[in-house]
Amino acid sequence: MSDDRLIVALDVPNAVAGLDLAERIGSAVSFYKIGLGMLTGGGLALANELKQEHGKRIFLDMKLFDIGATVEAAVRGLAQFDLDFLTVHGDPHVVRAAKEGAAGTDLKILGVTILTSLDRADLDACLIQPGPLPNLVATRAARAFEAGADGVIASPQEAAMIRALPEAEGKLIVTPGVRPAGAELGDQKRVATPAQALADGADHIVVGRPVWQAEDPAAAAQAILAEIR
Ligand code: C5P
Repeated sequence: MSDDRLIVALDVPNAVAGLDLAERIGSAVSFYKIGLGMLTGGGLALANELKQEHGKRIFLDMKLFDIGATVEAAVRGLAQFDLDFLTVHGDPHVVRAAKEGAAGTDLKILGVTILTSLDRADLDACLIQPGPLPNLVATRAARAFEAGADGVIASPQEAAMIRALPEAEGKLIVTPGVRPAGAELGDQKRVATPAQALADGADHIVVGRPVWQAEDPAAAAQAILAEIR
């Protein structure tokens, strides 16, 4: 049985490989994430095909950031594809512009707080104000929500803290960095199991390599679904 709490990241280079993978996985998975790595490989066409022809939900992970007018125009164009989730950086002016662009559609705007690959030294290099990273994540999440974001992307370690914010009421938390017990971590450092991430307040978990690199991706997805049921 499919369960849209599981979002599988189709981090393969092009639409042909993505469609092949989605067909191998079949009905087990109903929600896919398509990101920048497939932009030049037909990612938008694949998003459209999976949505229109296969009835899948689509999370377009574009992490947009620009002046408000440009973000609004970009989101207005993307919103025509009838997709489900779109990421932008969680800066308030970006979120407000994205919401304007998505007005009148069902596209949900998710804000990125602080990329999970960055540590304090990286933030110093970017001139981001001093202070512990979790505090900055919480403050950026609250500001993204106040600006109208429908949800945020967060590491599983941050999910409980964000869920506890008053501003998070009714908002979505989507967590990558999820690994079934015993799976390879790859370059993910701060991971949790699917069940733990959901227990900590995530509405959706994003899993990539443990599914698409598996010999049997459908079975790998089924095992995650069995774990969270
Ligand atoms: O293969 P894996 O499960 O690590 O894939 C996680 C997916 O989530 C990838 O597409 C990655 O780009 C994305 N992601 C992430 N961490 C973030 C934001 C997005 O891992 N902070």
